[in-house]
Amino acid sequence: MTQVKVVLDERIGKVNPNIFGHFIEHLGRCVYEGIFVGPESKIANTRGLRNDVIDALRKIEPSILRWPGGCFADDYHWRDGIGCPDERPRTVNINWGYSIDSNAFGTHEFIDFCRLIGAEPYICANVGTGTPQEARNWVEYCNFPGDSSLARLRRANGSEEPFNVKYWGIGNELWGCGGSLPPGDYAIEVRRFASFMRDFGGGDMYKIACGPRGDDPCMVRRDWVLEFFEGMQTQTLSDGCRSRIDGFALHYYTRGAGGGGALDFSEHEYYWLLNAALAMESLIRQVRTAMDVYDPCRKVGLVIDEWGTWHPEAKGDTGLEQQNTMRDALVAALHLDIFIKHADKVVMTNIAQTINVLQALILTKEDKMLLTPTYHVFDIYKRHQGGTSVRVLVDAPTIGSRSGESCVEVPQIAGAASLRDDDLFLTLTNSSISDECEIQLELLGLSVDAAKELKWEQLVGIDASDHNTFEDSTRVRPQSKVINWDKGTLVLPPHSVNAITVGLK
Ligand code: AHR
Repeated sequence: MTQVKVVLDERIGKVNPNIFGHFIEHLGRCVYEGIFVGPESKIANTRGLRNDVIDALRKIEPSILRWPGGCFADDYHWRDGIGCPDERPRTVNINWGYSIDSNAFGTHEFIDFCRLIGAEPYICANVGTGTPQEARNWVEYCNFPGDSSLARLRRANGSEEPFNVKYWGIGNELWGCGGSLPPGDYAIEVRRFASFMRDFGGGDMYKIACGPRGDDPCMVRRDWVLEFFEGMQTQTLSDGCRSRIDGFALHYYTRGAGGGGALDFSEHEYYWLLNAALAMESLIRQVRTAMDVYDPCRKVGLVIDEWGTWHPEAKGDTGLEQQNTMRDALVAALHLDIFIKHADKVVMTNIAQTINVLQALILTKEDKMLLTPTYHVFDIYKRHQGGTSVRVLVDAPTIGSRSGESCVEVPQIAGAASLRDDDLFLTLTNSSISDECEIQLELLGLSVDAAKELKWEQLVGIDASDHNTFEDSTRVRPQSKVINWDKGTLVLPPHSVNAITVGLK
């Protein structure tokens, strides 16, 4: 039988709420239609922002929201998106199908949206086609409390108080769409940009540089970590413990074996995708270890500001749209469990992308909205936020499949646990496509005599490709029950995501 042991007194670290972060980009129907419909729309809205989407997102307590890209960020000029909407320029989105951007959604609308959903804003500045001056001015516009011309302009545009944006990205994927730079050249850009992007007296700044592409082993192990930090070193004091940047952001997308779509996949493609998701754990170890060479005091946090599934039908010219099944829910749960297990290393992550794009939590169609299985994973997992991650030991069989020469295996059970407010919160996935799994759960290390009841939330479809549609939008949704716990066994259904809360007092 599979053993799951939670070692209650082996503390890994605090689960940074920013691990449960999100990402939106001016891409396809993410921002326009998905979030912003304009104040004149028949769809219920608050200052142009969809009410249904606001309500759904607020419920899952999104900690942080990254914007405006993605590739879009390195061709975005923030002044295009302020002032009277009718007078904003119509610009061409060169990254995503040469679509026209009305710029109706700009800095003020983004901050408004963040406040309505309760998320911290994280703005990615333009390095590719921008300048340190443009980035510096954007920070001043957002954050300066004094009486400068840019602060006056912000007030004239409706915001008396500074926005106090703490999190700033210094470009996106500079190794690719952000400018195709070698790591050493990008390090020089980061030094220039970071020097001028000051706090403007508005409080803490947290500056995030672009890290490697996770599916390129050379970048992960060498170029984009070691060479980048080598290039940054002149900004590091001899004690090795001060840096001009606060975060370093890995990107990793979970892609299939080549065949199979979001809804239509074989058993082999199912296991392939889950195995690809599990690669996140070794990426975290590799990138953090390489960062430690130059940042032994871990002053620079490991951020993963784009992650999620990318299925074959998601193409740039059609807005990277794809459906989302129980298989995607498992990918989300496996990732979040990995992030929680590595709470001592991972400071922030942002799933790509919140609405209508890639591994979306929400899909919209005109005035309709549906919550995907991935949304429900975030809803269930929100209780980990701010808890203390504790060690989980799982002794589970491996399962998988073979197709010709290709063989793939994953552990059947994976999970993570955290302690908060005298509760233990344990999340567990059963990755088997067909078999339930009986587990023996043990809590080690603290007196747990008081643990008599378990609250059990579960997300499980009829099969692994089960999903929600606009016609049947609640087909996949979590169920919850309370069971008397005789310290016996629990049976996890196939392809299921489970969350167990145990009161310890
Ligand atoms: O999320 C879609 C795109 O994927 C982003 O714009 C880019 O950063 C990444 O390659």
